[in-house]
Amino acid sequence: MRVLITGGSGAIGHHVVREMAAHGHEVVVVDRQQPSCAPAGVSFRCCDLTDLEAALAAVRDADVIFHLAAIPNPYRDPWERVLAVNVVSAFNVLEAARRNGVGRVVYASSESASGFGIHQVELRPLYIPIDEEHPCWPHESYGLSKLFGEVMLANYARAYGLEGMALRYVWVWTERDRAAVRELIRARLAGEPIAGWSGTYIAPEDVAQAFRLAAAYSFPPGQEPRFEAFYLAAEDTVLTQPTLDALRRHFDPLPEIRDPQYFEANPFAPAFDTRKAQRVLGWRPTKTWRDYVDW
Ligand SMILES: NC(=O)c1ccc[n+]([C@@H]2O[C@H](COP(=O)([O-])OP(=O)(O)OC[C@H]3O[C@@H](n4cnc5c(N)ncnc54)[C@H](O)[C@@H]3O)[C@@H](O)[C@H]2O)c1
Repeated sequence: MRVLITGGSGAIGHHVVREMAAHGHEVVVVDRQQPSCAPAGVSFRCCDLTDLEAALAAVRDADVIFHLAAIPNPYRDPWERVLAVNVVSAFNVLEAARRNGVGRVVYASSESASGFGIHQVELRPLYIPIDEEHPCWPHESYGLSKLFGEVMLANYARAYGLEGMALRYVWVWTERDRAAVRELIRARLAGEPIAGWSGTYIAPEDVAQAFRLAAAYSFPPGQEPRFEAFYLAAEDTVLTQPTLDALRRHFDPLPEIRDPQYFEANPFAPAFDTRKAQRVLGWRPTKTWRDYVDW
């Protein structure tokens, strides 16, 4: 398969590049920056994806596009820049896919598209665990940009027959976050309370696995539009308390528990339900915070 990976030089992207190359796929990275290390055979096209003409020239000749290029949080750049870069580059990539006849786009969305990841206001979920049917309520530039990307992809699927997959993964523990992760694990092992009710994270290898499986997925015959979104997280949280106890500290009364068996089977299960990815894509998280204890 010929895979074009935007943002392939980034913290998560380089894991996705490595995963696809290791599975024998032909990989092209499209990014503003050259990859610092890439497996042999991976080629590179330099492009600022906010420029439509440049995107049309660079994003072509592929069976599938993985679109990861973005500003990955709203903290280091002004909000309007985060929104503009992320939304315009997602639009340009979709236009390039459409005009250049690329059939599938797998999009790096985020748990923040839900409004419960990076957030300004603590909103109360309608029910838990939060699944792909729960409405999305992002209300800051990054989460909004991620949801707008999904909406564009879903509408391109409906209007132009593109196949779209949106991967809503949680905080990815890449090398960049090593110091923060080590501190979190120290607190967890010491039994100290950890802020927030989510405590979710995911290993970059498990994100890369999801991109690979999404590229290989066959939509059921007759499904229209061919678009699906998936939450992805490690199988347990890094919180010191079980998930329902952590949620109880923030919400009184607790939101409706749609599926009590979910938390009975695994009291530390993430509040974001990843069972659709497991059922539909055959995805399985392979790493938990325990794998990072000696990081
Ligand atoms: N880091 C996380 O925890 C996390 C969680 C959920 C979703 N995501 C999403 O995953 C993706 C990758 O995140 P990351 O943490 O690896 O970010 P990163 O900043 O490490 O990598 C992003 C890459 O995109 C490139 N890029 C940015 N703007 C570009 C443009 N206009 N044209 C061309 N290239 C451009 C950058 O050069 C960089 O190589 C992003 O879409 C992000 O929103 C990240």
